[in-house]
Amino acid sequence: MSDSTAPHHATGPAVPAVSEGRSLPRAEADWWKTAVFYQIYPKSFSDGNDDGVGDLIGVTQRLDYLKLLGVEALWLSPFYKSPMADGGYDVADPTDVDPMFGSLADFDALIAGAHARDIKVTVDIVPNHFSDQHPWFQEALAAEPGSPERERFIFMDGKDGRHPDSSVPPNNWPSIFGGPAWTRVPDGQWYLHIFAPEQPDVNWANPEVAAEFERILRFWLERGADGFRVDVAHSMAKPEGLPDMDLTGYLGPGTQLDVDHRFDNDGVHDHLRMFRRVIDSYPNRMAVGEAWVPDDERLALYVRGDELHLTFNFRLVEAEWGSDSFHAAIDGSLTAMAAVGAPCTWVLSNHDVVRHTTRYGGGQIGRARGRAAALVQLSLPGAVYVYNGDELGLENVDLPDEVLQDPTWKRSGYTERGRDGERVPLPWEGTEPPFGFSHSAQPWLPIPAEWAEQTVAAELADPESTLSLYRKALELRRELPELQSEEFSWLKAPEGCLAYRRGPNLVVALNAGDVPAELPPGEVLLSSSPIEGNKLPANTAVWLRA
Ligand code: NOJ
Repeated sequence: MSDSTAPHHATGPAVPAVSEGRSLPRAEADWWKTAVFYQIYPKSFSDGNDDGVGDLIGVTQRLDYLKLLGVEALWLSPFYKSPMADGGYDVADPTDVDPMFGSLADFDALIAGAHARDIKVTVDIVPNHFSDQHPWFQEALAAEPGSPERERFIFMDGKDGRHPDSSVPPNNWPSIFGGPAWTRVPDGQWYLHIFAPEQPDVNWANPEVAAEFERILRFWLERGADGFRVDVAHSMAKPEGLPDMDLTGYLGPGTQLDVDHRFDNDGVHDHLRMFRRVIDSYPNRMAVGEAWVPDDERLALYVRGDELHLTFNFRLVEAEWGSDSFHAAIDGSLTAMAAVGAPCTWVLSNHDVVRHTTRYGGGQIGRARGRAAALVQLSLPGAVYVYNGDELGLENVDLPDEVLQDPTWKRSGYTERGRDGERVPLPWEGTEPPFGFSHSAQPWLPIPAEWAEQTVAAELADPESTLSLYRKALELRRELPELQSEEFSWLKAPEGCLAYRRGPNLVVALNAGDVPAELPPGEVLLSSSPIEGNKLPANTAVWLRA
């Protein structure tokens, strides 16, 4: 593997080097640019009150583990008051904690504990919709068509007018979870819900909505949150007139068309500018957007200087295992983000997608590839998000029908199983379920007995475990100036491999092929599987000092 003439993505001045063994200084305001975020799905992380469901106390109790792992910031998926029609993304009170997860006092304790360990805490904000139990929606249901209460949501008459038995919704949009995106209310009007019927879309054309979200942002900022993950950040502006969609190629519930004009309308950027203005009125805070925008250049618009700080890059999530697909995903993102001067934000897994170890084939091969992909992810310039359980090499779980809770399962007519398989509670210790996730109750989803070898305790004790690999990688990422810099250049690599240089002399190589490849020269700092001789084994990545 040797230097290539491929573009050099130097997106800014390199961070000055410091002595080995110490974290690098970075302007406090820029902490998010290279941070390792850890996504906590609160229901599944750790159960502090033994009712079978994870909670905020559970997170606070595990902060020492998170420090040991070496993450720098947390993203907590929603813990707000919610009837849980969509795992908490149906928010009934965005400024209170659901009793299932604890209380505001528990949140304060979590923030205090995390900050005492120098860990930032970011929270989810869900601006596209509220729960149908939110007081605004209840008021809208009780009010007349055309009333100010209904104007906070998207209520319309059907195509065949407004009467209680009108049966043609205002347009042909399907809900992401299956069935139509419209539900009729008793007076004959319909309301829009791009997701479940329990998640009515709010109307961002109404200034009252922006004012309410400003209030919500300030509430959590005042409480000490270091930032936000903005749910469906590309959805707040709807297409003018809500026209029918072209459904050619639509594959049904749980899927989305590549071109879906309900999302990524230009008007969304004004709303995001409001978010940025509010967030910037507090020191050292940030926001990352969840925007599944397939076009890299359009995605980059979300992180122009006065909009979001970061936006998840889902190209790696979508890339199948292979050097060409990884190369294209990385290169496209680096190029597009460099053009607007924003860092990339790398993701392999989250609570909405099949875990990467499973995507790469599962079992031994999936595990090997997952470890290799992690060394790629953790060596790229920018911010990274690790999903709880990634660090244990967990796989998706095939769950029995009767425990499934994702709305997609019911709304697809029991054909699409949905996302519960990637949300199974974490195994912490011991030899049988529930592995210390909970002490007395059955967890809300069953934990497979085979996870006995993948508990946190078992993996901490094993220097070859995936957890030990993550710990070493995160330590090196903090300490090595090359990995904190923005310098990146591609190197030539044999068939099935990719390689790049970070800083002057750190080389990362991935062999995604089936046969061993030539190992680039240099001192091996870390490898995802054992290196023998001068060969880079199949399904292996390595970090080398050239
Ligand atoms: C994206 C969230 O990640 C997902 O879990 C949720 O179902 C939808 N947005 C709707 O809020």
